Amino acid sequence: MTAQEIRKAYLDFFKARGHSIIPRALLVPQDDPSTLFTGSGMQPLVPYLLGQEHPSGTRLSNSQTCLRAQDIEEVGDNRHTTFFEMLGNWSLGDYFKQEQISWVWDFMVNKIGLDKQRIFVSCYSGNAKLGLPKDTESAGIWHEIFTAEGLDAKQVEIGTQEQGSKHGEQSGRIFFYGDKNWWSRAGRPEEMPEGEPGGPDTELFYLYPQVKHNPAYGAYCHINCDCGRYIELGNCVFMEYLKTAMGFVKLPKRNVDYGGGLERVAAAAIDDPDVYMISLMQPVVNLLEKLSNKAYASNTTPMRVITDHLRAATFLAVDGVSASNKEQGYVMRRLIRRAVRFAFDLGIEQNFIEDVTNKIADIYEPDFPEVALRRHQVITSLSKEEKAFRQTLRKGLRQLDKLAKQSSISGQDLFTLYDTYGFPIELSTEEIYSRGLKLEDSWRVQFDKAMERQRERSRTASKGEFKGGLGGHGDIHKKYHTATHLLYKALRDTLGDTVVQHGSNITEERLRFDFSYPAKLTKEQLETIEDIVNAQIKRDLIVAWAEYPTAKALNEMGALGAFGDRYGDRVKVYSMTPKDSNKPYSLEVCGGPHVEHTALLSEGGKRFKIIKEESSSAGIRRIKAVLA
Ligand code: SER
Repeated sequence: MTAQEIRKAYLDFFKARGHSIIPRALLVPQDDPSTLFTGSGMQPLVPYLLGQEHPSGTRLSNSQTCLRAQDIEEVGDNRHTTFFEMLGNWSLGDYFKQEQISWVWDFMVNKIGLDKQRIFVSCYSGNAKLGLPKDTESAGIWHEIFTAEGLDAKQVEIGTQEQGSKHGEQSGRIFFYGDKNWWSRAGRPEEMPEGEPGGPDTELFYLYPQVKHNPAYGAYCHINCDCGRYIELGNCVFMEYLKTAMGFVKLPKRNVDYGGGLERVAAAAIDDPDVYMISLMQPVVNLLEKLSNKAYASNTTPMRVITDHLRAATFLAVDGVSASNKEQGYVMRRLIRRAVRFAFDLGIEQNFIEDVTNKIADIYEPDFPEVALRRHQVITSLSKEEKAFRQTLRKGLRQLDKLAKQSSISGQDLFTLYDTYGFPIELSTEEIYSRGLKLEDSWRVQFDKAMERQRERSRTASKGEFKGGLGGHGDIHKKYHTATHLLYKALRDTLGDTVVQHGSNITEERLRFDFSYPAKLTKEQLETIEDIVNAQIKRDLIVAWAEYPTAKALNEMGALGAFGDRYGDRVKVYSMTPKDSNKPYSLEVCGGPHVEHTALLSEGGKRFKIIKEESSSAGIRRIKAVLA
């Protein structure tokens, strides 16, 4: 089966079991300042896992495009990618362990045809100190399945990764681990902030007997060993706990959150431990072989990095991101630069991103209509960054000329070249040697230290961002959210129906709104829009919501939606209506939350003000506005 067929089979399988197929969320979370990217299918569903009712019901499923920027430096081996699709299914207080475990088994073995002998699982060993019990229930369900299939099903207590590599597999099939089998967005139970949901999980692994254990990863192999002999295919999280000031309590409802890597399942289906050989990636690898006139077999690292990074950058561009020095734009820039730098390794010195992006678009277009729609803009945006970087490379070379006048070059100098000029260290050292310049003896240690310091800084930053952000549904957040609806309506009133939302982002300081419109807005237009919003705030519209069938909401009622959002069968519609009327001023499909009436936006004498209007990408304008 191809990856495309597996995606479809998975969604069909869960649809047949009563699940609504919900649209993917954009890679840039819309109303969640706690994280830069959508990194799992459950992330946009947190409010529902916490107990809010989902308009599409209690059984949901989708294939969620994900980006995990923290894995960027791991890319190059046969299984890590920054961009991937996560096949997900969720039970919101509906089915639980028994159904989930037997379905995932049925899907992998009977629908995909994986070799059941080669499937191994892990379960949670519990944490007595925190009052979290060992998950003997999941282990028991697995035990029954394995024995019914005539497989040995020995249970082995492992504990930590370290103990795993000390004692090995011990002929087990069901293994108990500690923190490794606990899942929350923040990681270990101790690290979770209050208000965060989590739970024990059970993970499935596939054994590739053709891969030999690499002792660099520990004396013995075990299912969680990183040597690549076992690959994790999916994770069933039984999300039933909430962290509180008093410790862990049960959530009002028990949920299931399953997530599995489409790419990895597709690789298992063709019995190849190399995910880059699946139908979503191999055509890109083949193109790189052609462009470089080199074989993949002897150039795996650069070809994998380029394939992964340009897939990620393509989807970022589809979802409205463009390369910049900040936030998501910075990650996109880094991805493109790394791709260009690795292309150097392959000897591809001509602009090549257009060709590769076209190939990626060909692969995804049939299943993602938004890729077809934005293909042209995406290619323009990526190619522009490629060209700019080739210039940066030249600036870096000039900086090197300056350094050449010093008696020796330090690791810190190399780090500056890397960090400020985007100059890859391999290129710097190559230049330095070929010019006969001298490097300080300890340059490598200095460079690594500077790198580690920078990593530490960004780790601390992202941790802070995460923890701070979880409380982000505060008052100011709601106000900006409500202001965003008023702005959207005012833009349509002023500029017409060409205006369609392409993205929105809210911080404590401002709102940001991207929308389609072909030209820069004039000063007069901006003033009109501000005036309309302020007038609607003053009118003190009542904010309310109700659920409707999607077709009715969008077609009959004319509720506004966002480009790229595909909705489930039913949606939540927010209305903002004058007190003396029953005709809403604004109707918009949205998850909330909002303030209860619009006059709250002017509390403290504040007014709605547009502070910036600029181009976001071709045909898309961006407005930043504040309540001040
Ligand atoms: N949230 C879990 C994960 O990301 C399962 O969907 O692995």
